[in-house]
Amino acid sequence: NPELQADALIRQMTLDEKIGQLNQYSSDWESTGKITAEGDKETQIRQGKVGSMLNVTGVDKTRKLQELAMQSRLHIPMIFGLDVIHGFRTTFPIPLGETASWDLALIEKSARIAATEASAYGVQWTFAPMVDIARDPRWGRVMEGAGEDTYLGSLVAKARVHGFQGNGLGNVDAIMACAKHFAAYGAAIGGRDYNSVDMSLRQLNETYLPPFKAAVEANVATFMNSFNDINGIPATANKYIQRDILKGQWNFKGFVVSDWGSIGEMIAHGYAKDSYDAAMKAINAGSDMDMESRCYRNNLKQLVQDGKVDISVIDEAVKRILVKKFELGLFDDPYRFCNAAREKKQTNNPENRAFAREIGKKSIVLLKNEPLSNGKTLLPLSKQTKTVALIGPLFKATKANHGFWSIAFPDDSTRIISQYQGIKNQLDKSSSIVYAKGCNINDNDKTGFAEAINAAKSADVVIMSLGEAADMSGEAKSKSNLQLPGVQEELLKEIYKTGKPVVLLLNAGRPLIFNWASDNIPSILYTWWLGTEAGNAIADVLFGDYNPAGKLPISFPRTEGQIPIYYNHFNTGRPAKDENDKNYVSAYIDLQNSPKYPFGYGLSYTKFDISNLKLSSDKLSSGNKLTVTVDIANTGNYDGEEVVQLYVRDLVGSVVRPVKELKGFQKLMLKKGETKQLTFTLTPEDLKFFNNEIQYINEAGDYELFVGNSSDASLKANFKLTL
Ligand code: IFM
Repeated sequence: NPELQADALIRQMTLDEKIGQLNQYSSDWESTGKITAEGDKETQIRQGKVGSMLNVTGVDKTRKLQELAMQSRLHIPMIFGLDVIHGFRTTFPIPLGETASWDLALIEKSARIAATEASAYGVQWTFAPMVDIARDPRWGRVMEGAGEDTYLGSLVAKARVHGFQGNGLGNVDAIMACAKHFAAYGAAIGGRDYNSVDMSLRQLNETYLPPFKAAVEANVATFMNSFNDINGIPATANKYIQRDILKGQWNFKGFVVSDWGSIGEMIAHGYAKDSYDAAMKAINAGSDMDMESRCYRNNLKQLVQDGKVDISVIDEAVKRILVKKFELGLFDDPYRFCNAAREKKQTNNPENRAFAREIGKKSIVLLKNEPLSNGKTLLPLSKQTKTVALIGPLFKATKANHGFWSIAFPDDSTRIISQYQGIKNQLDKSSSIVYAKGCNINDNDKTGFAEAINAAKSADVVIMSLGEAADMSGEAKSKSNLQLPGVQEELLKEIYKTGKPVVLLLNAGRPLIFNWASDNIPSILYTWWLGTEAGNAIADVLFGDYNPAGKLPISFPRTEGQIPIYYNHFNTGRPAKDENDKNYVSAYIDLQNSPKYPFGYGLSYTKFDISNLKLSSDKLSSGNKLTVTVDIANTGNYDGEEVVQLYVRDLVGSVVRPVKELKGFQKLMLKKGETKQLTFTLTPEDLKFFNNEIQYINEAGDYELFVGNSSDASLKANFKLTL
């Protein structure tokens, strides 16, 4: 029993050894200062003063360091952690992109494969999933989460935790997941990373915490707290969220690691006087492990001696960490994750690459595919198209396809399928490609325009690949301007002027703003950053081997001025009647209220009709369920998948309620001409919400229910909740 084993070990430990377990160092990044006073890291590991390391990978390196830990008096192994965010040696679409698949089984499998690869490289812990709800695309880390919706985000959180932890810790291919960043990191004011968060407790509980709760329900092993303060208290020292909610109400048994240096950063926040004060506040508030701030290492002993931190608080934190080490099987064999044969097998494994292609194509969102003057749509393209011009700075870029957080991927561009290569692989031998980069991703150099224009003129069809470089969305990558960087839009306009039909691929880690393109370019695919197999996945969609079915997990604004923009907003006392209504209503006088593309939106090469919405009753009472049925027909010319979405609106509440809330979805495949009936069920539990007393309650009353294929769903029925 890991609990009893941990207790027995704690009884033998000195205070120094206990504090050592709470200390985490990074391998070779010394951004928080070199260790000099107490000797180098290796000496400290031998002395049992380091409980975990991050950013160390590979069988040889982890074994070498683990051997040092095994020389410590009590032979306590270390845990090796890493940001395994979207794949490891094989990279998958960024998490926001994967979420666009709305395919939970696939998302789980992506995390499963990442864990299989990472664990083969000596890693036992990933700092993922990031389950922060993000309604602000200026915030660079939107790329790392599941988007704006709490319901979808909670399901994705569970899928990712299940994927990483597989059949449970103790299996050699399972790694500990870490729900981060606790909490509300995504609500940073102005979308500026690390910024303050100020919100009602009702909103915190209703919108931002449920994905974390879902992670706990999925048995997540660890949590990471966040850099921001919440209503004036840094998350790192926030007793309300860590002790009352997480370890109290939710009964979380794992441990909480701080974010990098976040304990020490409470000094800059103005919440701690010095590192002594910071360590005291963090440990008493329930932060168990100190990532790289050194505050615990330098102060906890004194704090215990001064009576500021009770030894029981230290023991509790140590126990939480040791239990995980026992569960991981590290005490049975500290080198069980250091197996050279497994490591080799997981390098460039063809099955994992095949999966990367599968999830890659399923993450792509078709934003537009309008018929040309001949009445036909450009997509899917014929593989026999005579001359195809590939124009744009993203075609031959390889790193950009990985996106941010691809730490473990070797600096070996030959292992990534570029978009150029992917398209070349699939075009008929008789077709030819003319390529022109046109411009760089982010500067003002237009010297490549002429060559690009000539390339376009010589082609039958132009495909342009534009967007962001891998380091433009991610941590510390907040932006105030979300337009295409550099001169890319200018290049697009020049190519458009040639009159050649243009397909646009947009690569990014966040929703970009590209109104001119949306209004003028006939076919647009949003391809995020898709990972190792990006080129093949994109070509599968371009040429119709796969019919795109992705749906946006986040609203796409028309301008930065609309941000934050999200579908499940309140109605206000003066809702606008329509987009033109500006008469003292809640509207912009210079812009529509609606987003450019709404949450849940995405097209297909075929057409779907959803009809015949029926409810089993016009009443739902406690202990009962409501059955909702709709018919969906594929009335277009291709087989395809659709995501049917169910939303509700609580018409009158003791607190105002959103105009729509996602409460269910189903993804299904329909053959051309096929019709199916879909059934959803709703229970009163699905309709609960937090009131201002932070009670999670049902209220009797009238509800509207909507079914459709985006958050614009308009097929509507009414029912009454009786209690
Ligand atoms: O896991 C990350 C976190 O999300 C942001 N700061 C650094 C950590 C470790 O790399």
